[in-house]
Amino acid sequence: MVTMQIFCEKDYDAMSRRAAQIIAAEIVHAPGCVLGLATGSTPEGAYKYLVDWCKAGLLSFRDVRSVNLDEYKGLAPDHDQSYRYFMQRNLFAHVDIRPENTRVPDGLAADPDRECAEYDAYIQSLGYVDLQLLGIGRNGHIGFNEPGDCFIRETHVVDLAESTIEANSRFFASPDDVPKQAISMGIGAIMGAKRILLAASGADKADAIYKTVCGPITPRCPGSILQLHPNVVLVADEAALSKVNAAS
Ligand code: PGA
Repeated sequence: MVTMQIFCEKDYDAMSRRAAQIIAAEIVHAPGCVLGLATGSTPEGAYKYLVDWCKAGLLSFRDVRSVNLDEYKGLAPDHDQSYRYFMQRNLFAHVDIRPENTRVPDGLAADPDRECAEYDAYIQSLGYVDLQLLGIGRNGHIGFNEPGDCFIRETHVVDLAESTIEANSRFFASPDDVPKQAISMGIGAIMGAKRILLAASGADKADAIYKTVCGPITPRCPGSILQLHPNVVLVADEAALSKVNAAS
């Protein structure tokens, strides 16, 4: 098993608060930091804490730059299930981050390959991410790097796994409405982050977290590559850590 700092929190709220504290510490320490941000149910609670602390004057995003992990291909920024919309609703609209300092892949890009190349170039121009927040899929995906035969280094267009479409269909009227493709930051940009904060909640993540922390490094569980990163903090609740804790 790899050495990884692990915080085992009681429940989703405690996990969210801990994750938010780690992000806030980064911003207080380096007000102009580059944050790698994630969407989904996992970070929602952490974003609420960050919004509260910002509104209370304890925290400022004035000089923060952000890049998001991924975006559905084909969804407009104002589509209520796009990840740009998620970020506006859950964080950006409620804190003092400058809109021009936030970037989410453009799901409507006329030339998606070019969008991917420009996304990587942009991350490089920022000097890579200082703190990358990650959730994890039940199948072990990070960003939308789905299980496959090989890790993919660059930002790329990905065909979503059936299990991902099914998991995310809870946000759409029907599974048919879930986009079949996304643009995802690749393993290079994720692993290029100076620090990674992996967050997970719930028993349905226990297997993915176990394979990520204790399993072999394999593209069949993309999260497992985090074992090669020297600075990963895992913040999870007891349910998500149940298999790791049972094995240790
Ligand atoms: P979730 O998604 O936070 O909605 O569970 C995480 C992911 O699929 O990466």
